[in-house]
Amino acid sequence: MSVGIYVHVPFCKQKCKYCDFVSFQCMEDKYDEYFKCVMKEIEDKAHEVKESVDTIYIGGGTPSIVPVKYIESVIHTIKENYKVLKRAEITIEVNPGTVDETKLTKYFSLGINRLSIGLQSTNDDLLKMLGRIHNYSDFENVYEMARNIGFKNINVDLMIGLPMQTMEDVQDSLSKIIEKSPEHISVYSLIVEEGTVLADLIEKGKLKLPDEELERQMYWEVKKTLENHKYVHYEISNFSKKGRNSKHNMNCWKQHSYLGFGLAAHSYFDGIRYSNIDNLKQYIENFTNGEDVYNVIFHEHQSREQMMKEYMLLGLRKIDGVKISDFKEKFVDNPLYVFRNELNKLVMDELIEIEDDKIMLTNKGIDLANLVWMEFV
Ligand SMILES: C[S@@+](CC[C@H](N)C(=O)[O-])C[C@H]1O[C@@H](n2cnc3c(N)ncnc32)[C@H](O)[C@@H]1O
Ligand code: SF4
Repeated sequence: MSVGIYVHVPFCKQKCKYCDFVSFQCMEDKYDEYFKCVMKEIEDKAHEVKESVDTIYIGGGTPSIVPVKYIESVIHTIKENYKVLKRAEITIEVNPGTVDETKLTKYFSLGINRLSIGLQSTNDDLLKMLGRIHNYSDFENVYEMARNIGFKNINVDLMIGLPMQTMEDVQDSLSKIIEKSPEHISVYSLIVEEGTVLADLIEKGKLKLPDEELERQMYWEVKKTLENHKYVHYEISNFSKKGRNSKHNMNCWKQHSYLGFGLAAHSYFDGIRYSNIDNLKQYIENFTNGEDVYNVIFHEHQSREQMMKEYMLLGLRKIDGVKISDFKEKFVDNPLYVFRNELNKLVMDELIEIEDDKIMLTNKGIDLANLVWMEFV
């Protein structure tokens, strides 16, 4: 079995109003120290890892904001210390306001073969309202540059359920993006995160969310439109052309192992879930003092039962659901028996359906997925 590697870059040019990811603006003076720690973390873990690496995902924050020499060091350090498969999927997240042709060309020459571009909407007024640093035309330039350089696997992130967003906005974003024909499109429903500027504006009545019914209509419109254009809906928020799903994310949903490096990065290895702390100053200080063991927060060493539950929870994110034969292959037991009570209840509530070898969400279950997952926590 292979492992995936995730590297977190916790820097952004400007914090978007809705975002509570671990990322900081105006921290250029920390890049050097930070990447030294990340490189050390990558090197130190290597002796424990016998498996080959089939995916590398450089995410953030905004990995494209840092000078390309840091990304180069990250890739080289991984390749020097791990067995990276030739066919490995290597993704970097890119914000259109932070890249130029030189950076993209360098990414390509480093063997990065997948770009994930954060667009959110093609409507410039919405982008401004969200505090994005780019407009739609910046995205178009970056997308075209990337294609000209030779990138053949591109994802575009979109968001729905935004304040001031109408159904026409969603349709317009979809048709403009479909025209460009990216291999992958992620469509996220806005989550109003506590403590963000957006949450504050909504609470003060300065911005208003579309009602839940409209948000759900947007979701189903997205699904219908993308499916009509031959995109496969393979996970609640993810669509791809045939065979172009994100291998990195699919591996996570299949409960495969991955190693996370950098601030707040999560890992799942040898049945243990753990993460790094999210305090940048502390993370760097601990490395400097040789006390980096304190950077790790242990979450759980899974029992077989926890592992089985989590397998269901993760698997039911996929539109194809959980294959009963895969479950049996991994755990020997039959999930229809192990989870008979939970599954009965969910079938009665019409949230899941069981068909031949598959346990999967119904359309109602897609809308109320939280209720399904709750049965497996
Ligand atoms: C790390 S960002 C992508 C790269 C880059 N930082 C950017 O924004 O362009 C990952 C994606 O998560 C989504 N996202 C972030 N915060 C969200 C929220 N509160 N609700 C829904 N989606 C969110 C956005 O679509 C964003 O593009
Ligand atoms: S959405 Fe992306 S660019 Fe905006 S603050 Fe979050 S990580 Fe940074």
